[in-house]
Amino acid sequence: MDIFSRAIQATPWLRDQSLPVQLPVIALAAIVASVALNVASQLLIPRSKSTPPMVFHWFPFVGSAVTYGMDPYTFFHENRKRHGDVFTFLLLGRKVTVALGPKGSNLVLNGKLNEVSAEDVYGAVTVPVFGKEVVYDVPNAVLMEQKRFVKAGLSTENLHVYVGQIVDEVENFVANDSTFSALKAGKPAVIDTFQAMSEITILTASRTLQGQEIRESLDKSFADLYHDLDAGFTPINFIMPGLPLPANFRRDRAQQKMSRFYRDIVEKRRAAAEKGGLESAAGGYHDMIATLMEQKYKNGRPLSDIEIAHMMIALLMAGQHTSSATGSWALLRLASKPEVIRELYDEQVRVYGDGTPGSFRPLDYETNKTQLPILDSVIRETLRMHPPIHSIMRLALKDLPVPATMGGDGSAGKKSDTQTLIIPKGHSVLAAPGVSAIDPSLWPDAGEFKPSRWLEAGQLKGEESSSTSPSDTVDYGWGAVSTGANSPYLPFGAGRHRCIGEQFAYLQLGTIVATVVRGFEWEIEGGKFPEPDYTSMIVLPKAPARLVMRRRKHAA
Ligand code: HEM
Repeated sequence: MDIFSRAIQATPWLRDQSLPVQLPVIALAAIVASVALNVASQLLIPRSKSTPPMVFHWFPFVGSAVTYGMDPYTFFHENRKRHGDVFTFLLLGRKVTVALGPKGSNLVLNGKLNEVSAEDVYGAVTVPVFGKEVVYDVPNAVLMEQKRFVKAGLSTENLHVYVGQIVDEVENFVANDSTFSALKAGKPAVIDTFQAMSEITILTASRTLQGQEIRESLDKSFADLYHDLDAGFTPINFIMPGLPLPANFRRDRAQQKMSRFYRDIVEKRRAAAEKGGLESAAGGYHDMIATLMEQKYKNGRPLSDIEIAHMMIALLMAGQHTSSATGSWALLRLASKPEVIRELYDEQVRVYGDGTPGSFRPLDYETNKTQLPILDSVIRETLRMHPPIHSIMRLALKDLPVPATMGGDGSAGKKSDTQTLIIPKGHSVLAAPGVSAIDPSLWPDAGEFKPSRWLEAGQLKGEESSSTSPSDTVDYGWGAVSTGANSPYLPFGAGRHRCIGEQFAYLQLGTIVATVVRGFEWEIEGGKFPEPDYTSMIVLPKAPARLVMRRRKHAA
């Protein structure tokens, strides 16, 4: 006899009820019993001193999914106060150990290859979107080579070409998109910040990195494919991959079509080069496809068409939401500090002005990179307060000892509790560099958007700053990067999985913001700064987050 029948037999009242009454009563009793058991086990069974403290949760399996998912930063801050820098929580059946503070980031992001694995956490959600044979579908050594290829594509020569193309796309968007149509009647345009930034991001990324064929297809079927593919990046797929959901079937169809689309481009370019007697199919192109078609693995093998196609999809997806979220937050933060918009404008006049009010020389890469400290500090400060990725995860492949010094960084950590901690093999480990980036014990006026902090001597500097000594750098095969070992500012991560797109993101965002500053003044509609929305995998401004954009008086 099963448990269900036994429960009914053992309860006289229930025995006399019909099945539609029995079922919900039994279900409710089962839930109450499992909650009681779960609570009792947390309160009564003593925790081993060497395992990290566990965040209390009422429901088995669900654990802290709701509180973490709704507002991860409040969740981290509250549990840090209670437990210190290292604690474990249950996330839909998975044990996740959080390691906060710069040392926590170091533990997770600079863990050795045999200690922590990114592919074991990210593979299930990314491989169906990017496709096979790239990124987390290949051994780490292959990914490191693939990152080297991408780095080659982000050459100074290519970046030079991109600045003008980005300006062109932003100006065309403003001139032609219906969002800005009120401007034609001399009125301010009210725009949905994230929607406008998303469109500008994909337009500029496709015109530059992705290549002209992608740019030309954006208005047609490509946009729908992108949408279906992007829908694969949902928290549910991250936690329970492989569910037979209609959205996942659409994702798989879109992946196949998009893969075919890129492979066709590669084939056509190769055929055209052969016909034209060119030695290389890269001739004349400044995009990533051209670079990838020329690259070779260390063993001399060129990339297959599939690898090229799937790396292009990975780059498209990796850059889209991160950059469009950052651009949105930058415009929103600036709107709440009109004096910084003025400083940015004055910087443009100082560096690029040609003497006529409202008239400028075209933006260019070298000047952008070296002579616009205020613009640079605005992007840095935006990423300090609004890093798009709040949680970076790995799987612990073996027991991980927590350094004895953790919690001693002026953080709220409880050193004595964490001294002998071991994060057990099989836990997911989670770094949240965004917590340190707004830690009041590490940053003066931590909660204030203050780009000038990056210009003042003695302030904390960013990951790639001149304060990084050569001994802090490591090369995983795609160029020396800072380990970021003790940095409280890691919006692009650290270690072997560190972002490869930082340079491009800075160029793209800087050029977009400068172009907008040259032409507009703006404010937040209703004046209220939007809250963050954590329900997607990237931190977005909660809707409605609209801007009222007014043409500058001197602008053409
Ligand atoms: C990795 C942030 C833009 C491509 C990462 C990581 C972070 C990050 C935090 C590390 C993830 C981890 O350790 O698990 C950002 C931010 C961006 C940005 C804040 C913009 C503001 C881009 C762009 C591209 C890109 C534009 C492509 C052109 C990548 C790639 C990786 C990566 C390929 C490496 C993944 C790995 O090695 O496992 N990014 N990213 N990102 N990002 Fe970005």
